[in-house]
Amino acid sequence: MTTVFITGGHSGIGLECSRQLALRGINLVLAGRSAARMQAVADELRTLGGITVTTVELDTSSLASVRAAATTCASHIERGEMEPLRALICNAGGRFDGEISYSVDGYELTFATNCLGHFLLVELLLPTIAADGRIVFTASGTHDPDTADGRLAGAAVEPDAISLVTDGKNGAKPLSAGKRYSTSKLCTVMYAYETARRLGRSGSAIAAIAYDPGSVPDTGFLRDMPRAVQWLSKTKLFRWTSKRLGVTTSTVAFSGAALADLATDEHYATASGEYFQAREGQLSAVRSSTTSYDHQRALTLWNDSMQLVGLLPHERPAELH
Ligand SMILES: NC(=O)c1ccc[n+]([C@@H]2O[C@H](COP(=O)([O-])OP(=O)(O)OC[C@H]3O[C@@H](n4cnc5c(N)ncnc54)[C@H](OP(=O)(O)O)[C@@H]3O)[C@@H](O)[C@H]2O)c1
Repeated sequence: MTTVFITGGHSGIGLECSRQLALRGINLVLAGRSAARMQAVADELRTLGGITVTTVELDTSSLASVRAAATTCASHIERGEMEPLRALICNAGGRFDGEISYSVDGYELTFATNCLGHFLLVELLLPTIAADGRIVFTASGTHDPDTADGRLAGAAVEPDAISLVTDGKNGAKPLSAGKRYSTSKLCTVMYAYETARRLGRSGSAIAAIAYDPGSVPDTGFLRDMPRAVQWLSKTKLFRWTSKRLGVTTSTVAFSGAALADLATDEHYATASGEYFQAREGQLSAVRSSTTSYDHQRALTLWNDSMQLVGLLPHERPAELH
């Protein structure tokens, strides 16, 4: 038996992924904000796969919460209550519409939730990942401004962590929610690539993979949108129009299963540094945006992120530094 740690594994794409992993007999660590919601899903998954499910409270927008969750997970492994992780799936995230808001650490909420929390989690949990394990980052096709997904969501801006965390502060006009989201996903792809490069240079066999699940309406993703938009997004007309506009469309069942494959299927063991996209029932390695391949920007993003999360010397695994 092996264990997979997943953030946001109790709903949407993450829940479908958790179900697939449970059916494959893989033990799970569900990490999320609501203990009650995770518990209900954990019971379902135990029954479904006869597996062990551990729940860990984690708010990815809070650095203290990420540190506490990582410590809990590491102590389970140290005490022999859990085997080293076969995969870490950084899947939680969202688009935050409405007035701009900030995390408990004072950082813009989209960047804090989608980027910094997972950046820190990877640093802290790397020592708990099996030698041939994987890290999968759920990104989004919206990160690429040269695609319909990117244009419709709001084109990603410069992946500059320092200006992104302070977006809208001191009276400056904030980016739109769509741009904040697309840019956070550009940074996610860049984290995945930079993690893969660092692991590769250190001789580690752990793979880091970026993933675009495609546009999937049947999740909580549009929860901040007006009810009419949420309803419309689930109609056949919306799906048809999206396809006509060139949007990458998928279903929650396919995208969740594809995420489970990327995390555990032998086929993807050598896919470190690649970007996969779920589209109309196909999972393929595709090119990501031009900016995402910029090593210098990725290095700056990495160093700035280290500063923003206040990474301490003992929190830096040798393979990433
Ligand atoms: N649906 C799409 O069209 C689409 C397209 C491209 C990429 N994605 C990405 O796919 C991933 C999954 O989204 P989804 O579509 O399945 O939407 P979802 O059903 O809303 O799932 C998002 C998950 O992230 C969790 N989450 C949000 N903020 C969090 C925080 N601060 N701390 C911990 N967990 C947090 C949510 O937990 P709570 O229940 O506590 O809120 C939820 O479990 C996200 O990264 C999203 O950006 C989605």
